[in-house]
Amino acid sequence: MPKRSNFRPLFLVLLHVIMVLSETPLAPALYVFGDSLVDSGNNNFLETTAVANYKPYGIDFPLGPAGRFTNGKTIMDFFAESLGLPYVPAYLSLSNDEKSKVATGVNYASGSAGFLPERGTALRLYSIGSRKFVVFKMGPLGCLPAIVNSANRKPNTPCIEAVNQLVIIFNDKILETIIKLRGDLENSTFVQGNIYLSSYTTNLEPCTFGFTAGRSICCVVGGNGTTTCLQNQTPCADRTKYIYWDTFHPTEEVNRQTAIGCFSGRSPCVPLNINELAQRQ
Ligand SMILES: *[C@@H]1O[C@H](CO)[C@@H](O)[C@H](O)[C@H]1NC(C)=O
Ligand SMILES: *[C@@H]1O[C@H](CO)[C@@H](O)[C@H](O)[C@H]1NC(C)=O
Repeated sequence: MPKRSNFRPLFLVLLHVIMVLSETPLAPALYVFGDSLVDSGNNNFLETTAVANYKPYGIDFPLGPAGRFTNGKTIMDFFAESLGLPYVPAYLSLSNDEKSKVATGVNYASGSAGFLPERGTALRLYSIGSRKFVVFKMGPLGCLPAIVNSANRKPNTPCIEAVNQLVIIFNDKILETIIKLRGDLENSTFVQGNIYLSSYTTNLEPCTFGFTAGRSICCVVGGNGTTTCLQNQTPCADRTKYIYWDTFHPTEEVNRQTAIGCFSGRSPCVPLNINELAQRQ
């Protein structure tokens, strides 16, 4: 396998996640596809520099640095807990024997993943019985510190709006794909995770949402504020006050708030939340 380049491709699909709940009663399985935001350790097994299996990653996770690109739980970890499922194991962490036996779901997400063939993936899962899909659109990538700090000129807002405009176009395409799939796939239910606006608002007014550290970065990073966490450096003490764990990825607290809203609230997941989706016959 060719060595994958550094962190650049990472942001292409940040917060663009496809999640599948299998059939009732209450979601016996959770399959996860996506990028570093929901990777639970696949990249540990790939020849890539985009890994997060060292301290301080996982400082607030029970198992320590296991490959999650944040200080604690990902959104998928919170969903698994709410559904009463075990944390979804990284596909590449399983032995061949385990791969054939695991029945509660598998995580295929990989940090630095390129664009997913969304439609092909969804069709394949449908053909083997999946009927419930959750698709997260992309967040405002133009607000990521890594993007802002690597720009030549400081923007007028906290974000590079030209990048966000591209995200908006991409998100419109995702919506078109969802509408098409919903029409093509009998009995399917699609939930959209519309995280763009809430995340954008949080970036503009962090304090309003309790993130009193603003847009500063919790762990120690290099490259003038454009990299993932440097190894073995002490991160900020109160992680709940920060939006950003490293220059690409949110803290567990951001993941928690997104997950709670999506699981049982009225936003960012529409037209159903995940609890309603799981109950659906
Ligand atoms: C759709 O649901 C109906 C009613 O439960 C069922 O009879 C039918 O086989 C389902 N079709 C597909 C393709 O799942
Ligand atoms: C950080 O920025 C300074 C000043 O612009 C530059 O000289 C230096 O090469 C940069 N370092 C890295 C690692 O990008």
